Amino acid sequence: MTKKILFLTLALASLAAGLFAETTSALIDSTMKTCKAQALGMLKSLEPNPGKMPRTFEKGKLALSGVNWWCSGFFPGTLWYLYEYDGDPILKDAAVRYTEMLNPLLKGKTDHDIGFQFYCSYGNGYRISKNESYKKILIAAAEKLCTRFDEKIGCIRSWDSDNNGKWQYPVIIDNMMNLELLEFAAKNSEDSVFARVAKSHADKTMQNHFRPDNSSVHVVSYDKKTGKPHLTQTWQGLSDSSAWARGQAWGLYGYTMMYRETLDESYLRQAEKIARFIIGHKNLPEDKIPYWDFDAEGGEKTLRDASAGAIMASAFIELSTLTKDASLAAECRKTAETQIRTLASPKYLAQVGENGNFFLKHSVGAIPFKSEVDVPLTYADYYFLEAMLRWKNLNK
Ligand code: GLY
Repeated sequence: MTKKILFLTLALASLAAGLFAETTSALIDSTMKTCKAQALGMLKSLEPNPGKMPRTFEKGKLALSGVNWWCSGFFPGTLWYLYEYDGDPILKDAAVRYTEMLNPLLKGKTDHDIGFQFYCSYGNGYRISKNESYKKILIAAAEKLCTRFDEKIGCIRSWDSDNNGKWQYPVIIDNMMNLELLEFAAKNSEDSVFARVAKSHADKTMQNHFRPDNSSVHVVSYDKKTGKPHLTQTWQGLSDSSAWARGQAWGLYGYTMMYRETLDESYLRQAEKIARFIIGHKNLPEDKIPYWDFDAEGGEKTLRDASAGAIMASAFIELSTLTKDASLAAECRKTAETQIRTLASPKYLAQVGENGNFFLKHSVGAIPFKSEVDVPLTYADYYFLEAMLRWKNLNK
C-alpha cells in the first residue's frame, strides 16, 4: 500500500513537472517570437539612420543615440541573444553589423561604461560566434577601462563630472557591471592587472556602498588625497538615504557575476544579502516588478521600473544556481519566475508593431531629471531576453 502511494505521488510530481516545463517553454517560445518580430521591425526603422542605435520611444517618436551613449551595446547584444535562440542568419548578420559599429570607441575618449558597451555586444558575439578578432577587441576595451583605475582609491572612476565641485572621485554602484569585461580579459590574456583591478573595485564597493540593511547608495565620492569616501548620495534615486531600484539590481547582478567569475565567497555572501533585501522588502509588489525606488510611496500611481525587474530576474536565476542556501535558491527562482511572467504579460510586453518596436513598456531612466520616465529602454529589453534564456536553461 505504502509503495503504491509513493509510486502515485512520484508519478503525479513528474506529471506536474512535465506540464510546468511545457507551459514554461511555450511561454518563452511565444515571447521570443514577439521579441524577434519587434527587433526586425526596429532594424527596419533604423535603416534611414545609419550609425545610430535605438534609445527609447517617447511621445510616439523613436529616440536614437550615437554609439558613444552608454547603452550602445544593448541592441547588438539583443540581436545576439535572439540569434542564439532561433538561429536565423538575418539576426546574425544584423548582430555583427551593429556590434562592429562600436569599434571606433576604442580610439576615442574612455568611458567607464565601456564594459556595458563592449561586453554585451562583442562579449556575446565572441561567445556565440567564436570570432577571434572579437577577443582582441574585448581585451583592448578592458585595457581602456583600466586606465580609469586609481591605485590609491582602489576603484574605477565613474563619471568625469565633479558635480559643481561636490565630487572628487565619483563611483556608482552601476559600475559593478563593467567588471565582467575585466574578468573576461583576465581569463583570456596573460595580464594579471585585469583581475586585480576588478577585485579591488568590487572589494571597495562592498566596503563603502552598502548600508547596514544591505541596500546600496548610488554614488560614493572618494577623497583623492586620502583615498577614503567623503560623500555618499543619490543621483537617479528618490533621496540620499533611499534604495534606488535599478541600483539594487546592478549590485545583485554584479556580485553574483563576480562570484561566478572568481569563486570568492565574500561576493556570494554580498549577493545573498542583496537578494534577501530585495525579496524581503515590504514595498516589493506582488508581481515582483519594483517601484522605481524601494522607498517611493508605492501604490497604483507610483511608477515601476521594468528594467530593474528584468536585471533582477536574470541575476536571481543565476544566483539560484550558485547559492548553497536551498531556501534562498527557491525564493530567487520563484521571484525571477514571477518577474518574467509579469514582464511577458500584456501589461509590460508590447504587441508587435507597438512601443516603437521595443519589447517592454514602463521603465524609468532618471526620474529626478524627468528623463526617460515610463518609457521603453534598450537595457530592459536586453536583460529580459537574458533572463528568459537563463530560465529556459534552468528548466532543461
Ligand atoms: N548606469 C546608468 C543607469 O542605470 O541608469
